[in-house]
Amino acid sequence: MQPREFLMIPGPTPVPDAVLESVARHPIGHRTPEFSKVVQDVIQDLKWLGKTENDVFVLTASGTGGMEAAVSNTISPGDRVLSLICGVFGERWAKVAEAFGAEVERMTVEPGKAIDPKAVEAKLASAQPKFKAVTITHNETSTGVINDLQALAAAAKKHSALSVVDAVTSFGAVDLPIDAWDVDVVVTGSQKALMLPPGLGIIFFGKRAWEAKANCQSKSFYFDLKKYKKSLDANTTPYTPNVSLFCGLATALKMMREEGTESIFARHMRLKQSLRAGLQAMGLELVVDEEAASPTITSIKPPADLTVDAIRKKLKERYKILVADGQEELKGKIFRIGHMGYVFERDVLMTLASLEATLIELGHKVEPGKAVRSASDLLAARK
Ligand SMILES: Cc1ncc(COP(=O)(O)O)c(C=O)c1O
Repeated sequence: MQPREFLMIPGPTPVPDAVLESVARHPIGHRTPEFSKVVQDVIQDLKWLGKTENDVFVLTASGTGGMEAAVSNTISPGDRVLSLICGVFGERWAKVAEAFGAEVERMTVEPGKAIDPKAVEAKLASAQPKFKAVTITHNETSTGVINDLQALAAAAKKHSALSVVDAVTSFGAVDLPIDAWDVDVVVTGSQKALMLPPGLGIIFFGKRAWEAKANCQSKSFYFDLKKYKKSLDANTTPYTPNVSLFCGLATALKMMREEGTESIFARHMRLKQSLRAGLQAMGLELVVDEEAASPTITSIKPPADLTVDAIRKKLKERYKILVADGQEELKGKIFRIGHMGYVFERDVLMTLASLEATLIELGHKVEPGKAVRSASDLLAARK
């Protein structure tokens, strides 16, 4: 007999039993009053979680589908777009915008660093002609950096550029008050902090985004948000949605309401802090400094005498815990531990203990017990 494999990767993430049960039920008809009630509940709860009155649409697509919907509904060929890039997903925004004919300027910082809002502000102020939009990655999953979205969105707004935000690995784990921060477009996906299997893309679309849509020359059939808005006014969707995931999302959001946003956000901060404390106590080097460290994902350099492959393989085979490799240029250079959604303090302690045992089994010198002690001391002090 084997224990269940445990996902400490940045998505897909662990799914609660109640959500799995909702997803597993026989599908209901999508043109029924029962499903319309599910749609109503989901939309209301997503607005609650995003602290917004903006429109929100649930697309049957992955997060990248949501990114494509964001671009294809706001940006016309030839529009100038400033893409803020601190990793793989920032670059993805630039590529999506280019695919729709935008003239993209990249503002890039080295992996592991956050975007400097002052530099963005200066860039926007001096730009001629002005940028139509700024693409922002709130939480850069490839490195584990969280950007100062409030300041970045404010800079975009000051210079009349749309803020188009990837919140795929932050939304639902980190406070993102869309209306208070006046963010125009926010995209997320189901398989991260929302505790669902992959398959839904979610897009919040504000007033200025609709104004951009009115003049937008780009074309999309499936992702034309006007159709989604018309359908949503009747509590339905334009095409057959993933009914099962919609039902799961209703359950997940109900669970999140029960926990409350403040508790959810504080829990993710504790996961980050205790994990970082434990990893450092183990003598491991973290990729991101404390001020830019993500509450949902932590990147770690392997010790000089071990490879990322060996660590990941042993953790998986021996302890059934999955952690992620680095992506693209960071492949084999770092490993990443995801801690978002249905993840708790116990899971951090378990991961630290298993990682410590893994390093010891691979022949690396570690002081046994120190990592878990550091993490649990920190958790105890914060109660
Ligand atoms: C920050 C970020 N943006 C976008 C995506 C793309 O989402 P998907 O793989 O669901 O298309 C991911 C996926 O990991 C991500 O972490």
